[in-house]
Amino acid sequence: MNEKNSLNYLNKQKEQALLGGGQVRIDAQHKKGKLTARERLNLLIDKGSFQEMGMLVTHRSRDFGLDKQNFLGDGVITGYGTISGRLVYVFSQDFTVLGGSLSEAYAEKIVKIMDLAMKNGAPVIGLNDSGGARIQEGVVSLGGYADIFYRNTLASGVIPQISAIMGPCAGGAVYSPAITDFNIMVENSSYMFVTGPNVVKTVTHEEVSSEDLGGASAHSTKSGVSHFSAANEVVAIDYIKRLLSYVPQNCEELAPDFDYEATNELRPELNKVVPENPNTPYDIKDVICNTVDKESFFEVNKEFAENIVVGFARLAGKSIGIVANQPAFLAGVLDIHSSKKAARFVRFCDAFNIPLLVFVDVPGFLPGTDQEWNAIITNGAKLLYAFSEATVPRITVITRKAYGGAYDVMNSKHIGADMNFAWPSSEIAVMGAKGASEIIFRKEIKEADNSEEMLLQKEEEYKNMFANPYSAAGRGYIDEIIEPQYTREKLIRAYKMLENKVDNLPKKKHGNIPL
Ligand code: HXC
Repeated sequence: MNEKNSLNYLNKQKEQALLGGGQVRIDAQHKKGKLTARERLNLLIDKGSFQEMGMLVTHRSRDFGLDKQNFLGDGVITGYGTISGRLVYVFSQDFTVLGGSLSEAYAEKIVKIMDLAMKNGAPVIGLNDSGGARIQEGVVSLGGYADIFYRNTLASGVIPQISAIMGPCAGGAVYSPAITDFNIMVENSSYMFVTGPNVVKTVTHEEVSSEDLGGASAHSTKSGVSHFSAANEVVAIDYIKRLLSYVPQNCEELAPDFDYEATNELRPELNKVVPENPNTPYDIKDVICNTVDKESFFEVNKEFAENIVVGFARLAGKSIGIVANQPAFLAGVLDIHSSKKAARFVRFCDAFNIPLLVFVDVPGFLPGTDQEWNAIITNGAKLLYAFSEATVPRITVITRKAYGGAYDVMNSKHIGADMNFAWPSSEIAVMGAKGASEIIFRKEIKEADNSEEMLLQKEEEYKNMFANPYSAAGRGYIDEIIEPQYTREKLIRAYKMLENKVDNLPKKKHGNIPL
């Protein structure tokens, strides 16, 4: 038997592959406070379930000194396994091998598991930690990236795709996570940018650190690129697991149900959330958390565009997606960022059969040149479009204001919502009573002996007419006006009623969402 046919040789190869770029580089990774690619997988995947593929693949380029050493696995660990017993495909970039840089063979390994994931209908999880395209390989590594981007796009809406950024992710490499459904970034050790601080300095003369330019905080609060900011890698991996618990394996399945035993569904606390004064803010998360199953609310994009709240939750054990205006932040107004944030979330839920629940308390769209010149028209339309084309069960609860175009946009009956409830505190009108009175009664107010008194009188008249849900209910735009404490019970019944909903969009190649 020659050496290559022996078990001994195989074991030596495996040992070498398990060591990645070697102990020195593993120690360097730990020194930076980072785990290795394998340690991350051990935390993520159910114990004993990981099946590695392509462990002995090596790089092909031999230029620029790459002929001196073969790194088995070539900088990325790929394979499949289970998380909470459910199949997932995963790749984990190994920074200890040539900085986790992407080569031709490396890209092929990722492509292989993505193709399998598509054929077998299971999520793909990417753990990113890479210096980008392997510089020594030139255009071949660019091609490898594009092969991955192409598959990210084809897989979008078919299987859930989740990216965790655990280290550098720069240049064109950012576009794979950008296409995936969710990005999780680790604070202080990960960054994403198209061009780094050096290029920025040359081109714009700005001096900025990697962290400030593209760290977890920047992308969680300013750009919204990161959906979850994790204090460390262990927390990031927990986020992945939690996220998966709300979503199905693919677009043809339903999310897993959790055990639920019906008890008293009344929630008297809800009667106390909305303040007497319609201009006093309150936290919509109090409404959400008092409505859904205990501790089930899992917020997405928590620190970005806080005037809208989106996230997953469970109602009677079933996964739902929540979109809610937040009166505690900018009075819950809709603006560019909040519209985009909510639209993307609505489209994810719709693609993966997750019913939508919408809480409405919105004074309208944010006025101003900044919003208009940055296309609030196009961006606001994204949310309108996303709701309008969503075919999953859709329920709306208006808690207070539903003014103007924002009333239409926020999952109104007119754009296909299935059940619309309103609390007695609701005001469904073209605008607030003061603004409306100033316009339509301008002449009377101007000519009155006491203009201020006249304005108040007209405001009162307008309020009696529209600052309530009865006019909308009289038209059938609201299916039922409910006392807040019955909300949970009503929603459980309504979703049960909608369980077998089938709704098809007109046949088309695809729509043209205002991007
Ligand atoms: C080959 C790379 C590499 C790369 C890092 N290494 N990036 N090798 N191609 N892209 C190697 C280093 O030479 C080094 O090898 C080892 O990985 C670790 O890197 P260090 O620099 O020592 O680590 P650190 O100080 O932590 O810095 C990490 C880093 C830096 C910030 C990522 O390495 C860096 O700036 N790399 C280059 C990034 C880059 O410009 N990539 C190309 C982007 S263009 P040794 O042997 O010394 O340990 C791109 C286009 C994609 O990605 C387009 C897709 C469409």
